[in-house]
Amino acid sequence: MRTKTRPRKSQRNLCGFLRLLILLSTVAIHARTVVDEYRQTQEHWPPLQVDESVQVVELGSPTKPPKYEWQTRETEQLGRMLFFDPRLSSSGQLACASCHDSQLGWGDGKRFSAGHDRQEGTRNAMSLLNVAYKKQLFWDGRADGLLDLILRPIQSPLEMNADLPTIIDRLNSIDGYRQPFKEAFGDDQATPDRITKGIAAFLLTIFSSKSRFDHFVGGDYEALTDQEIRGLHLFRTKARCMNCHHGPLLTDNEFHHTGLSYFGRRFEDLGRYQATNQEEDRGKFRTPSLRDLPFTHPWMHNGLFTDLTGILRMYNNGITFNSSVRYRPGTPPLSPLIEPLGLSKEEIADLEAFLISLSRTPRHVFAPALPPMTAEATTTSEPTLNATSFSKESED
Ligand code: HEC
Ligand code: HEC
Repeated sequence: MRTKTRPRKSQRNLCGFLRLLILLSTVAIHARTVVDEYRQTQEHWPPLQVDESVQVVELGSPTKPPKYEWQTRETEQLGRMLFFDPRLSSSGQLACASCHDSQLGWGDGKRFSAGHDRQEGTRNAMSLLNVAYKKQLFWDGRADGLLDLILRPIQSPLEMNADLPTIIDRLNSIDGYRQPFKEAFGDDQATPDRITKGIAAFLLTIFSSKSRFDHFVGGDYEALTDQEIRGLHLFRTKARCMNCHHGPLLTDNEFHHTGLSYFGRRFEDLGRYQATNQEEDRGKFRTPSLRDLPFTHPWMHNGLFTDLTGILRMYNNGITFNSSVRYRPGTPPLSPLIEPLGLSKEEIADLEAFLISLSRTPRHVFAPALPPMTAEATTTSEPTLNATSFSKESED
């Protein structure tokens, strides 16, 4: 009997093989679970892990913001000309576009921008992508929206260094601007308010192109690789990034000290404190969006990083960057949301792959033809202005 019921050797081998197969497929199913959980609509994604104090908004694709009544085709077109026109600077050499170039992620690709007389500022030129969603502008949030910002770079001694009344007179003396001002505002005169609204209307058209991540959340579940999805999972959980980089733009639009204020050292920048004078704002900077990173480097308010892996290693250590030379006594405290992460090399690579999937080459915007100086304007304008150089630049 015993021998009868006992399976033959070949049967036993088969059983063992089947068991092994089941075991392997269970392991495979288990290993794929996290990735699979993301390949479905967002409400089925694994839960987010953020600190209790944080009001988090899920990642996703941004929806177009509502338009202002002054945002028309005509104001946008006028604004585009003004944005590219170096005659808005005292030297006649620098336009907004000199530091905000669509081919450089709408920044200038430099650590610090060279402004009037090639003087270097102390901050990295910010990308203008998606500026429509941002409220407190500049790294320290000192400008309260676009309308409050536009005239500042024109007048800043480190940027375009211009005297506003002189620029208004100059624009009003250029015949070719009369028609565009008239079409935009019903009257051909340039005024500070019209220059502001024109340029703002143009900036409000600058958005990121749809990234692979957007296709993924839109239902194309093959748009991200397994590695990128593992990175997305880390971003939402163990890597703690969502504590500050959340919502469709991957920013909370808040200010934090992450350890890069260089307190007491050559490049000290106390950030938000300069705008508010509040003790608790020392060293805080606005959380930047993480869309289109490959185009917006160098990164951080001081353009210190050109290497994404370096940034991730720094976060992994709980930002010990400054402490490699020891934080100076009195250094403002780091955000309590920053702590060491314990990510492996593979996990850092996954996270980096995810970050890159949030980008797509921004649309290139060409400089429009600019109206030439009128004869009268050439003789009455400052001697540094060179009418021929403008007509050359205006060739499209
Ligand atoms: C010399 C280079 C330079 C020029 C010229 C320049 N910018 Fe900037 N821009 C910068 C820098 C640097 C910053 C960041 C400054 C800071 O945070 O203190 C910036 C920030 C900005 C921001 C803030 C974006 C954000 O997300 O907060 C906007 C908007 C902007 N510039 C628009 C303009 C416009 C419009 C012009 C022309 C009128 C202009 N810029 C001219 C260098 C420049
Ligand atoms: C405490 C809030 C906070 C957390 C948590 C956080 N960040 Fe940041 N992040 C910031 C702030 C603020 C800056 C700008 C700091 C500066 O310029 O000094 C920044 C800058 C960056 C930049 C540079 C972007 C640019 O355009 O210059 C990258 C990349 C980045 N963070 C990725 C991450 C990743 C990935 C994680 C998770 C591992 C993370 N951050 C976690 C607040 C945070």
